[in-house]
Amino acid sequence: MKESIGYELLKVTQAAAIGCTDWIGKGDKNAADDAAVEKMREMFKHVDISGTVVIGEGERDEAPMLYIGEEVGKGGEKVDIAVDPLEGTNNVAYNRPGALAVLSVAPSGSLLHAPDTYMDKIAVGPDAKDAIDITASVADNLKNIANALDKEVKELQIIMLDRERHDQLKKEIRNAGAGVTLIHDGDVSAAIMPSMPGSGIDALMGIGAAPEGVLAATALKCLGGGMQGVLKFRSDEEAERGKKMGIKNPDKVRSIDDLVKGKECTFIATGVTSGDLLEGVQYTEDGTVTNSLIVDYKTKRVHFIESIFKDVL
Ligand code: FBP
Repeated sequence: MKESIGYELLKVTQAAAIGCTDWIGKGDKNAADDAAVEKMREMFKHVDISGTVVIGEGERDEAPMLYIGEEVGKGGEKVDIAVDPLEGTNNVAYNRPGALAVLSVAPSGSLLHAPDTYMDKIAVGPDAKDAIDITASVADNLKNIANALDKEVKELQIIMLDRERHDQLKKEIRNAGAGVTLIHDGDVSAAIMPSMPGSGIDALMGIGAAPEGVLAATALKCLGGGMQGVLKFRSDEEAERGKKMGIKNPDKVRSIDDLVKGKECTFIATGVTSGDLLEGVQYTEDGTVTNSLIVDYKTKRVHFIESIFKDVL
């Protein structure tokens, strides 16, 4: 892929982030999502790629825009695109921290075509990337992560979505002596946190959405972090859809390289509401300010970018 591809696609996440800010705190997550989707799709028309959405807003019959299989871009290199125009729809609806507009890009055929289902995930930063095994016990994972980070288990902080399905996981982590950080929504940024120096978070554990798992894996591949995921279908219908999308071995433990194949990928995110990873969109006297992150596997670049727009995108 062209080295500049992340910078060309930056305007796409910026447009989505700015596009949904009218909905912050308005209690309508679908309207917020629709606004981000529409702006993202519009901006794709100005990017020199021949992209295929492999992770998007749903399948063709259920999503009018950015559906799986939709072609985006005005022509150019053939790439896979994974999008979440608004990661944390509730965060915008209820003005909570950490909503992002995110996308990943990789050469055609590289990204797992993850159906809209759940994924059990474990994610860590670079130093602990060889210490995780999602099939092992929670206690063993914590011990191995602690060893890899030269810490004691009681010093670890594990982030997860605040969901009833995590009650047992939470108990096991606390019984082992580690701490649990609970978030309302947004496990893409939560998966990235352990790879960010000084974040205070050592690992993400628990079940979240599968598409978000692939987006997080792209970021972690670029950052040198570690991640494993196992798809968790909630119904026979989801399993059937997975099969149709080419998922042959649903119970397989998928490593980062299974989720994002090959040696090229780029992850781009722009903050919508301010969170630990990125500041949200701000309207100032100088213009509209956005904060974004671009990470690239080939060049190993990690760029935090602040942009000021005199005219809204
Ligand atoms: P949306 O932005 O699509 O609402 O997703 C937010 C999110 O918290 C994801 O980060 C996470 O993977 C997923 O929802 C978890 O799903 P659920 O709310 O069903 O537990």
